[in-house]
Amino acid sequence: MHPGELIPALQRIQSERGFLPPQALHQVARALGIPLSQVVGVATFYAQFSLKPKGQHVVRVCLGTACHVRGGDKVFEELLRFLSVGPEGTSPYQEVAVEPVRCLGACALAPVVVSIDGKYYGGMTPAKARDLVQHVLRGESVPPGSP
Ligand code: FES
Repeated sequence: MHPGELIPALQRIQSERGFLPPQALHQVARALGIPLSQVVGVATFYAQFSLKPKGQHVVRVCLGTACHVRGGDKVFEELLRFLSVGPEGTSPYQEVAVEPVRCLGACALAPVVVSIDGKYYGGMTPAKARDLVQHVLRGESVPPGSP
C-alpha cells in the first residue's frame, strides 16, 4: 500500500466494522510503512472516523451556525429524547448513535441530519427527524432529501 491510501483504507475499515479498532490501526500503519501516530492523527482528525464502536446506525445532527439558527438544536434534543440516548451517545438498544457535528457542508439544506449510510436529509424538524429514524429502524429505505 502507498501512504496516499491511508484515508481510503481507514474508510474501508470504518465502513466494514463501524469503527476503527486499535489492531486495525496498527495493521494499516505496518502496511503503509508509516508511524502509528500518523494513522491515529488522521483517524482522530476527521469526524467520519470513530475509534469506539457505535450503534448500528449513526445519525449526525448538524449544530453549525446555519443549522442552529433554524432549529438544529431542537432536532438534536428531540432525537436524544426519542431514542433515550445516554451520555455515551448510543440508545439503550445499541441500534442508533446520535452525534452532534459542526457543519456538514450542506448549509442550504439547514437544518441537516445525516443517517447511517451518509445520506443527507435537509429541512429537518423534530417531528420529521423522528419519522426518519423510525423508518431507518424499521429497515425501510428513505431516499435522501426530505423524508
Ligand atoms: S451549518 Fe449545518 S450544514 Fe452547514
